[in-house]
Amino acid sequence: MALAHVSFWAICVLRVALATIFFQEEFLDGERWRNRWVQSTNDSQFGQFRVSSGKFYGHKEKDKGLQTTQNSRFYAISARFKPFSNKGKSLVIQYTVKHEQKMDCGGGYIKVFPSDLDQKNMNGKSQYYIMFGPDICGFDVKKVHVILYFKNQYHANKKPIRCKVDGFTHLYTLILRPDLSYEVKVDGQSIESGSIEYDWNLTSLKNMEKTPSESRDWDQVEGSKAQDWEKHFLDAGASKPSDWNSELDGDWLQKPPYEDGLRAEGIDGDVWLHQKMRPASYLTQYDLSEFENIGAIGLELWQVRSGTIFDNFLITDDEEYAEKFGKATWGETKTGVTRLALTLLHNQE
Ligand SMILES: *[C@@H]1O[C@H](CO)[C@@H](O)[C@H](O)[C@H]1NC(C)=O
Ligand SMILES: *[C@@H]1O[C@H](CO)[C@@H](O)[C@H](O)[C@H]1NC(C)=O
Repeated sequence: MALAHVSFWAICVLRVALATIFFQEEFLDGERWRNRWVQSTNDSQFGQFRVSSGKFYGHKEKDKGLQTTQNSRFYAISARFKPFSNKGKSLVIQYTVKHEQKMDCGGGYIKVFPSDLDQKNMNGKSQYYIMFGPDICGFDVKKVHVILYFKNQYHANKKPIRCKVDGFTHLYTLILRPDLSYEVKVDGQSIESGSIEYDWNLTSLKNMEKTPSESRDWDQVEGSKAQDWEKHFLDAGASKPSDWNSELDGDWLQKPPYEDGLRAEGIDGDVWLHQKMRPASYLTQYDLSEFENIGAIGLELWQVRSGTIFDNFLITDDEEYAEKFGKATWGETKTGVTRLALTLLHNQE
């Protein structure tokens, strides 16, 4: 019994020892957060934050977080940590957000910045690496942004991801893995996942990476659209030509379905030899989710009606640790939200 107990904890300690926690913030030490977070003074009209657990909560102390306090304001605040690169490692970004004011129009997202961010002057133009989280405005905008910066441009997720619109606290998690897969979780449940190569708009990168030799056989003929893809294969013959000689021409392969970022290989003029696929060159040259110098996290957003509370920030390389941290923070206090909360929210309808 005792032995089993010891080994269980040994495993827990080992796991936590393997996880690297780059940043973690729960606002549990009164007003000392002001030493860690820098309010931008770039615009004297920027809204003020306070630390509060709001009108209702599961736990008065644990649920304290950064709350926006002024209506119709831009907000800009950030915190630093030791710079790191996520090269070859997973990157997990997680936090909780609660719109207890019944959000009409405003951001609930976070931004992760390079370490050279000028915190005192941070504003909407400050370059970031990643923007992640919910954005609500009227009936039209209710989405989770996942915007990634590379090759001097921002790239938004193409697949729409819906955000929560109620007044309760929700846990948002973004995972970027070195194999270019990603996952978005809300309240610990996976709601979107896939490959960064296919689920981000990389059109502009493709155009940039064009080289003269490549434009000869592919780009002039095909472009990058699905219909161009179809056209190419029609032009080249959609079915096996009668004079196809397997010994000379190689194996006949069926036309693969069009996928953004893939291109046919081995096309020589009009002669279609092999339909072997390979990623377009821009994908092999740049790791799409690799950030060299991650060093700050911040809130840079606009809110019409204020009152949003941001809490339980975490940046780590360990998905399992993030899950545990989410359960120990959001998971613990969400069940304590009283009937008072339901009444308050109901009355706002
Ligand atoms: C705000 O920041 C920009 C740089 O992003 C700077 O050029 C400008 O002078 C700053 N304004 C103030 C009032 O500090
Ligand atoms: C993708 O990016 C290109 C170039 O920036 C832009 O013209 C196009 O509208 C974008 N497509 C989508 C679906 O956002």
